[in-house]
Amino acid sequence: MITIAPSLLASDFANLQQQITLVEQGGADWLHLDVMDGHFVPNLTFGPPVIAALRKTSQLPFDTHLMIEEPERWVERYRQAGADVITVHAEACADLSGTLRRIRELGAKAGVSINPATPLTAIEGVLSEVDLILLMSVNAGFGGQSFIPGTTARIQAVAARLKELNARAVIEVDGGIDDRTARLVVGAGATVLVAGSYVFSAPSIPDAIASLRHAGD
Ligand code: DX5
Ligand code: ZN
Repeated sequence: MITIAPSLLASDFANLQQQITLVEQGGADWLHLDVMDGHFVPNLTFGPPVIAALRKTSQLPFDTHLMIEEPERWVERYRQAGADVITVHAEACADLSGTLRRIRELGAKAGVSINPATPLTAIEGVLSEVDLILLMSVNAGFGGQSFIPGTTARIQAVAARLKELNARAVIEVDGGIDDRTARLVVGAGATVLVAGSYVFSAPSIPDAIASLRHAGD
């Protein structure tokens, strides 16, 4: 089973509620929310007040991707705002294990993410402690970038390691996902696909979501 998480980053920010309804009615499983702080990444988006407002407009699980420094200071506020999955970057986190534990204590699913250039050893110690591993297939910060092909081998390596450890985390991929790259990453072992521009710029959002869902068939 493949989970499709459209990224709101590529939507029309003047009409967020309407854009969420479009993907929700179009068959999305989760809503991917890209939180950027202008420090960890050179871009700025939205934070807890906007997420709390959006929470009232949708039943979709909120998949919250924190591209922020010191995420441990903020996880509680994102949980209160309505985040169901909270993913932090290993590169931004001084106490990764403690932060993930805190996310779970708050009742959310805990995710860890790494950028394409970060070695997999950065997450080796937490593979059994997370619900989700978000492998970036572009450098975090902006939508609309091209998929980095080396991601496929990284997904395979993480999938193999999870199997060895008998760990049950799912692998999510984010950046440059379309119907072609979706096939590659699903073949490698990813089961959660984030897609921003491919979904929101599609002539038909339901068709775009369906084509991602069936990429691995
Ligand atoms: C990038 C974000 C992604 C982004 C993906 O830092 O984490 O979620 O929205 O956008 P596309 O699908 O356009 O590459
Ligand atoms: Zn993201």
